[in-house]
Amino acid sequence: MDASQIEIYKQQVGKVAASLVTSGMKVGLGSGSTAACVVRALGKRWQEEGLRFIGVPTSVDTAHLAQSFGIELTTLGKCPELDLDIDGADEVTHQHYHLIKGLGGALLREKIVRYAAKKFVVVVDERKMVDQLGDHTPVPVEVTPFGWEATAKHLEKIGATISIRLKKESQEFFLTDGANMILDCHFGLITDPAKLEKEINEIVGVMENGLFIHCTDEVLIAGHDGIQHLK
Ligand code: 5RP
Repeated sequence: MDASQIEIYKQQVGKVAASLVTSGMKVGLGSGSTAACVVRALGKRWQEEGLRFIGVPTSVDTAHLAQSFGIELTTLGKCPELDLDIDGADEVTHQHYHLIKGLGGALLREKIVRYAAKKFVVVVDERKMVDQLGDHTPVPVEVTPFGWEATAKHLEKIGATISIRLKKESQEFFLTDGANMILDCHFGLITDPAKLEKEINEIVGVMENGLFIHCTDEVLIAGHDGIQHLK
């Protein structure tokens, strides 16, 4: 699939996801290129239709994008319960809609925002659908920089092969919006993702991991057959 086709899919799914938002809602705004399409489509509705809602962004990039359209933003401090959260994913299972998220590095804030929301809708293109997690994506694990080498050893003991995430433009460590590091953990195909999600988070130094298990309500998938809305 070429890049321009993927971009079209992202825009299509972004538009459909944005149509789920109604005036007065409190909405979690996800991160990554597909979630950005949702924010742009919401921005269009904000400017052209007068749609009014309050957004809680999951990253600094998303906050800047939403602000560029004039979308009103708040924090979970002021608004701890949300009606809806819409976000992208790196892998989604056909059954149960389990996810791997965090290739964009926003997984901790994304998970906090997801669990603050009554409903979670995931937006992807068809390339992201898998039978089993771990198919082509590592599990991103957000760790505190202090003693990260020790944290990495504990992750290896539970089966991870680790790549330290670096900035694209240099050999420096990639840092999240919360100034944490990301260790991309390859576990191969993951047979019990619920167990692994808990096991990783029990390791001292781990802030959060990119497994989102039993927490997706709906998935919008853009592909060659149009948009599928799975509930
Ligand atoms: C960022 C994420 C993104 O939602 C995920 O990486 C998907 O991104 P994209 O839509 O650009 O493929 O979890 O932390």
